[in-house]
This record gives sequence, C-alpha cells and structure tokens, in this order.
Amino acid sequence: MNGKTLPCYFLILFFLAVSVVSCDIFKRNELPPSYHNGVVVTAHPEASAVGLKILKDGGNAVDAAVAVQFALAVVYPNAGNIGGGGFMVCRNADGSFASLDFREVAPVAAKMDMYLDDEGNPITDLSLRGQLASGVPGVVDGMVKAHERYGKLEWTQLLQPAILLAQQGFPITTRQAQELNGRKESFEKHNPAGTALVKAGEWAEGDTLVQPELAHTLSLIGQHGRAGFYEGEVANRIVDEMARGNGIISHADLKNYEAKWREPVVSTYRGHRIISMPPSSSGGIALISMLKSVEAYPLSKWGFQSDSTMRVMIEAERRVYADRATHLGDPDYYEVPQAMLIDSGYNAERMRNINFKHASFSSDIYAGNLLRIESEETTHFSIIDEENNAVSITTTINGSYGSHVVVDGAGFLLNNEMDDFSVKPGTPNMYGLIGGKANAIEPGKRMLSSMTPTIMEKDGKLFMVVGTPGGATIMTSVFQTILNVVDFDMNMQQAVNAPRFHHQWLPDEVLVEKDAVEDRIRHSLTTTGYKLVDRNSIGRVDAILVLPDGSLQGGADPRGDDVALGY
Ligand code: GLY
Repeated sequence: MNGKTLPCYFLILFFLAVSVVSCDIFKRNELPPSYHNGVVVTAHPEASAVGLKILKDGGNAVDAAVAVQFALAVVYPNAGNIGGGGFMVCRNADGSFASLDFREVAPVAAKMDMYLDDEGNPITDLSLRGQLASGVPGVVDGMVKAHERYGKLEWTQLLQPAILLAQQGFPITTRQAQELNGRKESFEKHNPAGTALVKAGEWAEGDTLVQPELAHTLSLIGQHGRAGFYEGEVANRIVDEMARGNGIISHADLKNYEAKWREPVVSTYRGHRIISMPPSSSGGIALISMLKSVEAYPLSKWGFQSDSTMRVMIEAERRVYADRATHLGDPDYYEVPQAMLIDSGYNAERMRNINFKHASFSSDIYAGNLLRIESEETTHFSIIDEENNAVSITTTINGSYGSHVVVDGAGFLLNNEMDDFSVKPGTPNMYGLIGGKANAIEPGKRMLSSMTPTIMEKDGKLFMVVGTPGGATIMTSVFQTILNVVDFDMNMQQAVNAPRFHHQWLPDEVLVEKDAVEDRIRHSLTTTGYKLVDRNSIGRVDAILVLPDGSLQGGADPRGDDVALGY
C-alpha cells in the first residue's frame, strides 16, 4: 500500500462505519463545498443548524457561538454543557482578537488532598463520579461576557433555539442512543430521582429526547442572564444537589465565579500567525511549542506520515508534553514560563538531540510513571460569519457526561473537571496526563486544560479556525491538522479526515489510529525503538479554512456526528 492509497483505504473504513464520508473527499482535486457568507461546524447537526440560523438572522459569529453553546448543552449532553467550562478564541473582522477563559474553578472548600485516602493514594473515581468531582461551572458567565462584549442580537434570542430543542425534543443519533444506553446504570445510580437521560427500556436512533427541566433552566438564563444560573432557583438546586452527595460547591462559589479575558498566546508558523488559548489551558503553548519544534524540518518535502516526518513529529510531541507536565498551571496561581516555552530557540534546542536512527527515551527527557488512557470527551465548534468575524470555542464537562450527576430539577449535567488537577502530583489523571505542583488543587484555582481553540492568519487575513475535543490528544490533533494544511497542502476536509497519531511523553508509546501510518513506516519505526499502539479514533476536529478567493471551506470530523453548514 503506498502513501496515496493509504488515506483512501482509511476513509473507506470510515465510510462503511458512519456512512458520512466518501473516500473521494480525500482526493486532492475534489473539493468540499465552499460558502461565501458564513460557516458553522459543530459536533451535532441540530447545533450546526442553530448556528447557521443565527447567522442568517443577522447575528455575528459570537451570537452564533453563544446559541450553539446552549444548543449543544441540549443536543450533545455528553460534552455540550452549561455545567462545565471552556475557552474561546475570537478574531474580529478588523483583525483584533481576544480569548476568554471560562474554565471551572475549584470550590473554596477544596483541599489539595481531597481525593486521597489516609495513605495518600487517590481514591478510585472520587474525582470522576458524583458531586465531589465538580468544579464551579463557568459556561454561563463565559457566554454572558462574550455576548456583552461582542454580541449583536438580543441575549434572549440566542437562548430560544436551545429552549425549544429541550422543550420539544430532538431525534437522537445512533451514536447517542448507544452512549445513553451504555451509561444507564451509572445515570440511575447517580440520579436516584430520575433524569431525562434515562428511559424505560433502551434508547434507539430517532427516539426523541425531551428535557423539560433543562428547558426551564435555560429560560431562567434567558430571562436573568448570569443571575439566572449563579443565583436564585438554579443556584439553590446546585447547592441542594451537592448536599445529596459529598459535593462542596456553595452559593458563594457560584456567585463569585468570573470568566476571564486573557491575552491570547500568539506566534508564527511558516509565515502563518497562530492565535491560541493561553493558560489556564496548556493548549496554545503546547501547540506553538510543537510547531516551533518542527519548523526547521522540511516536512513538506518528506511528505505526510513519511518516516522522517513521523520521527520529528513524535519527538516534538514527546518533549512538549514533558514540559507541559512540569511547567503549566493556572497563571493566577503559578508563574508559567510562557515566553520560554514558545521560543523558537528553546524548542530548537530541545530537538537538537533527536536521532533519526532511534527513538529517544521519555525517561531520558523526564522521569515519570506508567499511565492509563481513557476516553476523551469535550467538544469544539468553529464559526465564521459574513464579515469574517471568527470564533473558536472548545467546551467540556471533562469525561463523557461529566460526573454523571444531573442537577435534580434543573436538568443539566455537572462536570467532573476536578480530575484535571494533579490529584496527586506525579499520578496520572483520566487522560494519563501527569502534573506537578503547578497544577495541584487549591481553592478558587482553575485546573489545567488541554483545550486548544485556535485561529490562524496568513498575510494579515483570517486563514483558519480550528480545534477539537480529545483530552490529552487535543494539542496533537490540532497540531497535525495545521501541518496537514500548511505543509501537506490538504483542503480542510482532507486535513480533518487524515489519520492521526499521538505521543504524550508518558507512557512512552505512539498511539496510532487504526489503519493510519503505512506498514513500511510502522516497521521502520518499531524496529528503531518506537512502540506503536493501535487505538480507536483520536479527536474530532471541526475547522474552517478561508480560501484565497475569500470563500469558506468547512471540515467536519467524520469520526463523530459532526456537520459543517454554510450559506
Ligand atoms: N477536560 C479536558 C481538558 O480540559 O483538556
């Protein structure tokens, strides 16, 4: 199998699996549709339709993003949310840009050792399931602040589509039916009073999911904005929910929550400007560090997933993830050496000892433990409007369906984001990521994230909007999507479809999507010290590319139910 047929073969498998992707999409000369006015790419067809309607009704990209965020909380409850947090990077048509950190924070009653037993070992699942796993949600304040600064349409108008979807219901996809059925037992355990996510019998594709309690909560947010969530009825219900388990989020925690505008992290890659999310996400810094690490190498000449390209990318990923574990945390609590980490010279120096004949050893880069890897959920959406305002948002309740606790009477899932702290420094979280003191639990602190909403410019103009879910694999997926466009000349859909791999320093192995990487290259890598481990899909990148004529090309990831809509 040669380099050209491999991607085709890979995509045939996707076609069979999800009936969405045609192998043709990977052929260079067959372009996905392009649009002139606006594009919305999200993880769910209903949410993409909501965003598109808002754009058509005269809303800008931020209006559409706010409406999509609330719609995803209804139609994509495994990651879309109002009970979690996220990050937004936006770029305005005039070239100005900003980033908003609406990450959850640790409740004031949180303690560094709150998930450890008497011997100092993490108690299984305590940071993952139940009321104690939740940080103070940030989404509602984030959306309020984004709308206050940039929104054009009325706030209530932006909530309306989500309220209707929750009130009237929507048909669930096959994937959603399977996910809900698979979690039934846990939902019942954590929600003894019942939840709309559980039905008598099994869910099936096309069943209507109606969520009246969530509709009510969304209408309170519509009527009262921030206070509709952080005060009054909904706040009371959250605090009552805490009391039902061992949760610690208080009225004061909710009232005091503030999303924060932050200076985006900005750099360049082969003449493209990269605008990404700074801490409390590690995403932007890690992405730029990886780009800087490979910039000196002729990837385009070597080719997509060629032997040398793979070696350089894996070694870059290894080194950057080692730095992430040591140097990154909430900048309000820890001085992140940001300038050093994205410096070209620093990253070139880190790459100086790579050996094309043999893999580096992660133990030589930094010491670490054996890790486990679990599923990664979160969701990303990308939007460009007709004026070329652009929004890139990644949002999450951490694991799929978060803590599995639905706030009784309020109908929304709470996050299990506390697991993104270093529960015990040196011990891996659910994504197998290790952290140090920089990411230790402290009251009011934001847990370190991997989310990497990113916007790129070329020649001073908007070029690309990109991001993905995927926990620890987020940064490597965004990194590879950017290289696919910039170095390997793929169109947006090809770049999103292309098979991915992932190395995160520890464990010292390269996770490879099944059928990614040619056999010949696999052999070469494995006989020179790389451990390749096949796994299921990595990431769900949703992105938009601005073509030289100004038209917009969406890339919706066929690994999920993701849809790009434009007009
Ligand atoms: N909860 C996944 C992340 O923030 O990266």
